[in-house]
Amino acid sequence: MSDCIIAPSILSADFARLGEEVDNVLAAGADWVHFDVMDNHYVPNLTIGPMVCQALRKHGVTAPIDVHLMVSPVDRIVGDFVEAGASLISFHPEASAHVHRSVQLIRASGCKAGLVLNPATPVDVLDWVLPELDLVLLMSVNPGFGGQAFIPSALDKLRVVREKIDASGKPIRLEIDGGVKTDNIGAIAAAGADTFVAGSAIFREPRTRQAYADTIAAMRAEVAAARG
Ligand code: DX5
Ligand code: ZN
Repeated sequence: MSDCIIAPSILSADFARLGEEVDNVLAAGADWVHFDVMDNHYVPNLTIGPMVCQALRKHGVTAPIDVHLMVSPVDRIVGDFVEAGASLISFHPEASAHVHRSVQLIRASGCKAGLVLNPATPVDVLDWVLPELDLVLLMSVNPGFGGQAFIPSALDKLRVVREKIDASGKPIRLEIDGGVKTDNIGAIAAAGADTFVAGSAIFREPRTRQAYADTIAAMRAEVAAARG
């Protein structure tokens, strides 16, 4: 199993101080910045777009930016995120008319590509596209909001997708998103995840670099213990 990537979701950051929040969470040991894009169409919420991604790059953020598109259609916005400095771009198959084409588009632009499965999306959607992916993102909540409870069936799904990835022999990351906390991240790691999104568990009061570092260190310790 590959290393442990912690990707704080800035959905729960203080948007009025976003640059400072991102600086602090990266200085606290985060690996990636998870960037949730919602369009009030594919999901019932509206968040941030390419201009904010570009603003973080201009601010000096050099860490990978992990763009999670919850938008439909997908293809039109991909180029904007590439230009804005995205590192990885993931999308939901239900939101794209041509899943394989969207993956090709993302990869041809030089970004890594991910496919996102909602809690009720069958894993079969991976069958003919998995070798083309850099990342599979399993949702453990229904997309649209931070702070929701982890849906336990995601653990079984992680085990199934972990087997598929291992059988592929490719270095595809397995990311989990939604309701990840210090007290369940061990079970999530044991089920096969290697990349962990956490929003409300990390970005909470007192919103200091030290508090973020403490949470991230505790999460890494739980992952290490679960892996033995
Ligand atoms: C939900 C988003 C998540 C969300 C996670 O649609 O994709 O990234 O911010 O938030 P928590 O960790 O609070 O469940
Ligand atoms: Zn997300």
